[in-house]
Amino acid sequence: MSASKDQVPAVSAHGARIPLLGLGTWDLRGRVCTDMVEKALDLGYRHIDTAEMYDNEQAVGEGLRAAGVSREDVFLTTKIWPSHFAAADFPRAARDCVKRLGVNDVDLLLLHWPNPQIPLPETVGALCKVKRDGLARNIGVSNFNVALIEAAWKATTEPLVCNQVECHPYLDQSKVLAACRQHGMAMTAYSPIAQGRAGGDNVLARIGAAHEKSAAQVSLRFLVQQNIVVIPRTSKAARLAENAAIFDFSLKDGEMAEISALSRAGRRLIPAGFGRPDWD
Ligand SMILES: NC(=O)c1ccc[n+]([C@@H]2O[C@H](COP(=O)([O-])OP(=O)(O)OC[C@H]3O[C@@H](n4cnc5c(N)ncnc54)[C@H](OP(=O)(O)O)[C@@H]3O)[C@@H](O)[C@H]2O)c1
Repeated sequence: MSASKDQVPAVSAHGARIPLLGLGTWDLRGRVCTDMVEKALDLGYRHIDTAEMYDNEQAVGEGLRAAGVSREDVFLTTKIWPSHFAAADFPRAARDCVKRLGVNDVDLLLLHWPNPQIPLPETVGALCKVKRDGLARNIGVSNFNVALIEAAWKATTEPLVCNQVECHPYLDQSKVLAACRQHGMAMTAYSPIAQGRAGGDNVLARIGAAHEKSAAQVSLRFLVQQNIVVIPRTSKAARLAENAAIFDFSLKDGEMAEISALSRAGRRLIPAGFGRPDWD
């Protein structure tokens, strides 16, 4: 496959170019994970999302090498788990991620969840240092609400290019999105098909039928059409192609509004971690 990551639609944030579509790998392990990463890259995906907590970085790295795509053409994200947020622990955790992946550096290193037990400036300082030390080309955060985004920007000496949060048609993340945009950050939607639920949604299916697309494709299109990065996960090869075929149609304004109306307060699928339920 000769496509480079620049041929996949991307968002720009503080100099980073993040492909709008990536493969999520939570819960994919071993051979299945390696196969899905390899197949996704063969199909043209140029963005892979993993985390030290997923226990699959080695398998992701094997998939990268098996695909034979140039390392420079793939945007690789991983995340540091909050138990490694102390300045004394953070650099080793980052080094271990890169080592397990079998790469020299990652394109994006995120703080996986806020950890109120460790001062944020300490962790953000450690994150900036691993970037300066060359382990990460870009840095960012995940599961940060508006107040935490502001606090992280106050603490950082390097641009934070991304906030990765739960986002799908059932969850209104407009406040977090506005805060990201204010700081020039990309927002990445995790669980972008609501962990499969959007695939069975009647409203999304009806809208999709008008475009000869599935409900899951409508869920993903709804997000990328707002320049929100999506990282759907699948363990099924056929769905890789389905989830990637979202750049050849557009939703009309009325359809976007109808999908927005599916969101309600409290529709979060992933519970807040580390004792931080105060989202907004
Ligand atoms: N930063 C964080 O705290 C955080 C938290 C959660 C997730 N994430 C990241 O975001 C990624 C995606 O989120 P997610 O895994 O929670 O959920 P998701 O991508 O919204 O949904 C995955 C589920 O949807 C099914 N699915 C995939 N494609 C489908 C399609 N076209 N039609 C119908 N069903 C489909 C999959 O089943 P099959 O395998 O059977 O296809 C799987 O059960 C994760 O893998 C991970 O990389 C990050």
